Amino acid sequence: MQFYTGQAFSLEAITAKAHEVGAIAGFDLAHAAGNMPVQLHDWNVDFACWCTYKYLNSGPGSVGGVFVHEKHLKAELPRFAGWWGHDKSTRFQMGPEFSPMPTAEGWQVSNAAVFNMAIHRVSLEQFGRAGMQRLRAKALQLTGYAEALINGINKKHNVNLEIITPSDPEQRGCQLSIFAHGMGKDLFDKLTAQGISLDWREPNVIRMAPVPMYNSFEDVWRFGEAFESQMNG
Ligand SMILES: Cc1ncc(COP(=O)(O)O)c(C=O)c1O
Repeated sequence: MQFYTGQAFSLEAITAKAHEVGAIAGFDLAHAAGNMPVQLHDWNVDFACWCTYKYLNSGPGSVGGVFVHEKHLKAELPRFAGWWGHDKSTRFQMGPEFSPMPTAEGWQVSNAAVFNMAIHRVSLEQFGRAGMQRLRAKALQLTGYAEALINGINKKHNVNLEIITPSDPEQRGCQLSIFAHGMGKDLFDKLTAQGISLDWREPNVIRMAPVPMYNSFEDVWRFGEAFESQMNG
């Protein structure tokens, strides 16, 4: 996922291309985790990492996540060897050799903060209950609805709120990035003052992302109403 435009790329195709030229394919999934369903193993991705405070709702400063393809687990890759990555069954023997756990856990260098892990666990349980496929199905509708509202405002008020996120739903997640020609920061500030949680990116982009875990269609409708109220004056 591209953080500015919200464009989703095919990790599978990029991975295949990388492998074709002998490269390793690793991805920053900060904007994909909890947003788009991914099949990292099946797509043969070598590794990936992500923060958990965006779509995964675990709070700033929370733990990160990492994926390492199982084909690399036995390889003698150079790595930071931390005791928390040491095989649990022999960790406390304190031997001179590092014997990593045979999973991505083998890359852990130290303890994770317990309170952060507790929050993250609850969050992941909610994702497990809701299911990524169902969340994605609702996200397609929520974001499609927001897109339709913006396009409607453009027509009705003859303005140019240019959505720079691809219109093909397969090439985007929850986010829409709106290039607000001639309106910009002032519009963003007024919408924020109305209680709409958005994000501003220079030079002129408003990022919005209805998320299926807790946003409703009414929320998106209210977003559209707030946006439109700024066109009237
Ligand atoms: C593309 C991208 N990668 C990574 C991160 C997260 O970085 P960190 O885990 O250092 O907070 C962000 C957060 O804004 C991001 O937008």
